[in-house]
Amino acid sequence: MRIWSQAEQRLELILGDITDQRADVIVNAANPQLASGGGVDGATHRRGGPAIMAETQARYPQGCKTESAVISTAGKLEARFVIHAVGPVWAGENRGEATQLRSAYQSCLTLAEEHQCQSVAFPSLSTGVYRFPVEAACHIAVDTSIAFLLAQPSLKRVVFVLFDRPTLFTFEKALTEIAPSLKD
Ligand code: APR
Repeated sequence: MRIWSQAEQRLELILGDITDQRADVIVNAANPQLASGGGVDGATHRRGGPAIMAETQARYPQGCKTESAVISTAGKLEARFVIHAVGPVWAGENRGEATQLRSAYQSCLTLAEEHQCQSVAFPSLSTGVYRFPVEAACHIAVDTSIAFLLAQPSLKRVVFVLFDRPTLFTFEKALTEIAPSLKD
């Protein structure tokens, strides 16, 4: 299953580069310092241009704590906003990483809704440099997003932009497992 939909709302799973997406919000996988990194972060700042970093440094000199998120404009990206989310570094579930990851997704969705956004594009937070196992992370990502969509009719579209086929397949499996149970 690659799509979950209900009335005018949908959650999609696609293979691609998140910086190619057109959405009201593109989510960046950031670090607590909001310093430029690799992966999604590197691509976001490379494609979005220096205005994004200039804005986050000015607005959030204290950075962003793990499990939270901050918002900026989107520079040259095809989006109104970039949300910079800081997922947890995986340390073997010793520090409540699952709860922290859920909170990071929740923070993004809440910020998007507060800024009247109808569409949000996410990468798979924490499953790259931060080493969170994809099997567990994708359940949290999909489950949190569908619950938020059901609670907030103003949000119309959540798309997960996955960078490689194994990650896409793992997300698809999670969506198949989660979506039927939500319909009951
Ligand atoms: N588009 C979509 N997904 C991407 C892209 C891209 N352009 N580039 C990488 N990915 C994928 C990775 O393959 C992984 O599945 O996004 C997922 C998250 O990987 P990371 O970007 O490494 O994010 P994360 O694990 O949250 O680590 C964050 O990495 O770049 C640094 O500054 C960043 O310190 C922070 C840390």
